[in-house]
Amino acid sequence: MADTPANAVPVVTIDGPGGAGKGTIAGLLAERLGWHLLDSGALYRLVALDATSRAIPLEAEAELARIAASLDVRFDARSGEGLVWLGNRDVTQAIRTEACGQGASVVAALPAVRTALVQRQRDFRQLPGLVADGRDMATVIFPDAGLKVFLTASVEERARRRHKQLKDKGIDVSLAALSRDMAERDRRDSERSVAPLRPGQGARILDTTGMTIPEVVDLMSRWASETFPDASPRRA
Ligand code: DC
Repeated sequence: MADTPANAVPVVTIDGPGGAGKGTIAGLLAERLGWHLLDSGALYRLVALDATSRAIPLEAEAELARIAASLDVRFDARSGEGLVWLGNRDVTQAIRTEACGQGASVVAALPAVRTALVQRQRDFRQLPGLVADGRDMATVIFPDAGLKVFLTASVEERARRRHKQLKDKGIDVSLAALSRDMAERDRRDSERSVAPLRPGQGARILDTTGMTIPEVVDLMSRWASETFPDASPRRA
């Protein structure tokens, strides 16, 4: 059978600020469609984590780009828990801390780090389709995606959701501090010179303030089936 050209593989991009629910929604949508999932934020988080554990400053662009290019990462979706491995270390929890998120936002502003991760992200585009979650999925990585969604919610709602998520994991942080950190991260992600956070051309803007997760997933899977009427789910 001839190889399918990458641009023939359907892609749904989901971009937006932190705490808008992208990760949860992207995971559920990929499951519903039976498609692959790219959690691009995890790659930036892994660069920050790896650099921190080797005591490399988060401004050392050339060294960080080398780390990004040679990340020995494995996403293990089969377990149903979405385990993330860096070498032989299970870093699933370690990359989810707020400190790692802030670190990711710092390293993500470095052009050489972003360049080093481009091809790795595009390699996720495989049949029967891909749901790609990030900040620049529609603007830089998959500008030809058939369905582009920019997911957002008010900063208060996003902080509340993140607070609940952390609390459920037994992590106690103040809502005010979270809200402040979130606003700072939004500013850094939106104002950086390379691949700033913004909707891609033709993106549908979806404000999820006041919407439940199932409502968002239902709406987006309807959009996906309208956009890709012939797409078939992945075989188990
Ligand atoms: O989505 P997240 O919280 O896991 O992302 C962590 C940081 O990584 C976020 O502050 C910005 C950065 N990021 C990025 O610049 N580009 C992406 N495609 C994904 C994440």
